[in-house]
This record gives sequence, C-alpha cells and structure tokens, in this order.
Amino acid sequence: MQICKVKNYQELSRKAANLIAAQVILKPDSVLGLATGSSPVGTYEHLVAMYENGDLDFSQVTTVNLDEYKGLAGSDEQSYRYFMNTHLFHKVNIDHAHTYVPDGTEPDAEKACQAYNELLHKVGPADIQLLGLGHDGHIGFNEPSDHFEDETHCIDLTETTIQANKRFFESEEDVPKQAYTMGIGTIMRCKKLLVIVSGKDKAQILKQVVQGPVTPEVPGSILQFHPNCTIIADEDALSEMTI
Ligand code: F6R
Repeated sequence: MQICKVKNYQELSRKAANLIAAQVILKPDSVLGLATGSSPVGTYEHLVAMYENGDLDFSQVTTVNLDEYKGLAGSDEQSYRYFMNTHLFHKVNIDHAHTYVPDGTEPDAEKACQAYNELLHKVGPADIQLLGLGHDGHIGFNEPSDHFEDETHCIDLTETTIQANKRFFESEEDVPKQAYTMGIGTIMRCKKLLVIVSGKDKAQILKQVVQGPVTPEVPGSILQFHPNCTIIADEDALSEMTI
C-alpha cells in the first residue's frame, strides 16, 4: 500500500483526478472502475474541467461502477446511476453505452448479480478502480462480515451505512436497505486501486484498514494484500496514524 498524504479534500481531489487522467492519457481505451458518494465528487469535478480544457478524451473509455441501491431506477435522483450521470457522464464525451452500473430495477437479485458479473468478465478487470471507504470499513458495499465475497452480490446495508447515507435522502425510511455490489474478489483483481479518504470521521477506520489485521470484519483491510494500491488521504483522515 502506498499512502499519499495531502493537506485537505481539495488537494486529494486534484491528485486523484491527475492519476485517473494519467491512466486515460496513457491508455485511451482504459476501463475505469468508479465510485459514488461524497469522496469522489471533487475528483469528478477536476476530470470534467480537464475534459473541458481539451486535456482529456473519454471517447474510448469504458466505466464500471461499484454498486447500486436495489430498487432504485437510474432516473431516481438518489440512485448511483443518476449520480454518475450528473457528476461525470453527462459532462464529458464518454459513450453512454460503455458506462455500466448494476441494474437496481432488477428485483431478482440473482439475475441482477449474474448479469453484472457477466459484464465484468467481458470488459475485464478495471485498469484503475477508484474507492471510497465506509465508516464501518466497507469498500463498494461489501459490509463487515465473516467472509469475503468474491463477485457481485446483494447486500443488506448495515445500520452504520444507512445512518451515514441518510443525508442524501428526505428521511431515513427512504434509504434503501439493500444494494448490489461488486465483490471483494473483483475489486482485488483490478490492476490498480486508488482509495480516497477524507475527514476526521474516517481516521479511526482508516487506521484499522491500513495497520490492523486483515479481516472481513473490516472489509477494506484486504487492500493490504493488493500489489498496486494507492491511498490518498488528507491530514484529518490520517490523524490517528503516524506515517
Ligand atoms: C460508493 C461506495 C461506498 C462509498 C463509501 C464512502 O460507490 O461504494 O463504498 O465509497 O460509503 O462514502 P462517502 O464518500 O460518501 O463517505
């Protein structure tokens, strides 16, 4: 694991965008694994700016997203498809047919997960996968468990995650209780991982992920075993660690 310490969220976003941009510049037909949530918003803003400046071309890029709430359609403002469309896909010259997010409208979990796995096998492991970190140590929506799931599966969101994500919904009752998520195995097979972590509220869990035992009870701890994993974290997120 390589840890890149930055001052604040702005610097984190700039650096993460630069690394993703470098990937696309060096390999224009890259497969980018993408994440949603608060952490990558600034990164996407920088990528859009680079595109607008003529420095980045997404025309040959394919994207695969980590997860989607079960039961939400892409037209729903809280869905991760909607998030990706508004923060990135609708703002750059990407071919929308080459942007993939699990199908939250498929009620049959087995069917939804199988379809996403087939797609992931077809497009291949991501050249670079962007990850945020949940307060309970989740990556994607791989919540704490007694084992690591290999491929896409349907997950019951933990109370911690529901509490953390209710800020995006009108009320707590509106937060979906389940999601489809890429598995830990799929994430670990990506060629490069780029983890972005910001804020004091993530300091304790980041320390566990980086310096604690590797255990499915802290899903992100598996990243210690990835051969090419970079964590960009700000001073607040690193405040519990001496590096
Ligand atoms: C989102 C995802 C989640 C988030 C995590 C952190 O696609 O897979 O693992 O990255 O919940 O969320 P934020 O960035 O909102 O703190």
